[in-house]
Amino acid sequence: MKPLLVHGDALHVGRHVAAGSVQLAYLDPPFNVGAAFGARRREGGHRARGPVAYQDRWPSIDAYLAWLEPRVAAVGEVLGPDGTMWLHLDHHAVHDAKIACDRVFGRRAFLGEIVWATGNGARGARRGPAATHQTLLLYARGSRPVWNGRDPLLREPFATTSLAMHFGQEDEQGRRYRERTVGGKTYRYYADQGRALGSVWTDCPSMVANTPLRRESTGYPTQKPLRLLARIVSASSAPGGLVVDPFCGSGTALVAASQLGRRAVGMDVGPLAIDVASRRLEAEGFPSERFADRLRSRTAKRPGA
Ligand SMILES: C[S@@+](CC[C@H](N)C(=O)[O-])C[C@H]1O[C@@H](n2cnc3c(N)ncnc32)[C@H](O)[C@@H]1O
Repeated sequence: MKPLLVHGDALHVGRHVAAGSVQLAYLDPPFNVGAAFGARRREGGHRARGPVAYQDRWPSIDAYLAWLEPRVAAVGEVLGPDGTMWLHLDHHAVHDAKIACDRVFGRRAFLGEIVWATGNGARGARRGPAATHQTLLLYARGSRPVWNGRDPLLREPFATTSLAMHFGQEDEQGRRYRERTVGGKTYRYYADQGRALGSVWTDCPSMVANTPLRRESTGYPTQKPLRLLARIVSASSAPGGLVVDPFCGSGTALVAASQLGRRAVGMDVGPLAIDVASRRLEAEGFPSERFADRLRSRTAKRPGA
């Protein structure tokens, strides 16, 4: 299946994706920062002087939540029994949004959070610590969400001290390992497999996606790094599974999903986002099917949905 790009509101995700069919929904909505985001039009150009890609302003946190919650609920409807929603926000709204997500999914559906350290320098905080991280909240639809914790993208190298202290043995192929006996059973851990990654991610610098000097950059504001999305897709979906990004922007999640052999559906209300994502997918070898939701009547469904 070609990736599907829908020009439309995330609220209507259920028109394009069957209820209960999604394994991973990645939501990277506006964060309620109180600004408009411009896009860089050409190499060397400035985002601030480019066309407005999207508005991220609400009159109050309540107004923002009144906008966000029904969209989260719409995504909840399309998630499958093994599906997970990842909601990507920052300090502006994440704590309030957690309460809203608890209302939608139930508190027990909360799987935890990822703190993504973006790698940007601290700036612009006069009254407290400058934010150098963003937060992703994970919610499961059912009791057995996909979690591929052994995937190489979800591992990190052991600490140097740990390697020096514990990995003194070598097998016949020359691989370093350690063994631990727990409850009478012996487990072997190989140094080259690394250790399981926890909830703080520091190795996906945002500048890779946002610096014009980097190949990955599309000029679209708030573009997320492909490495971050590849990890999320690897964690919460299986090859062939359906990945949905209802606020797709430049299409990072759709590219990651397609590269990893997942099916992908993206939505965005911004025409610029749809153009950028479409060109990007094409350039990566995944030409998409496009669909303009807003041209349809309120009750219309896409054929085959
Ligand atoms: C933070 S950006 C997404 C960036 C994207 N993850 C990337 O890597 O490029 C948020 C996106 O949400 C879109 N958006 C805002 N309101 C929307 C809505 N109601 N439905 C769908 N998309 C919306 C904006 O146009 C913007 O592209």
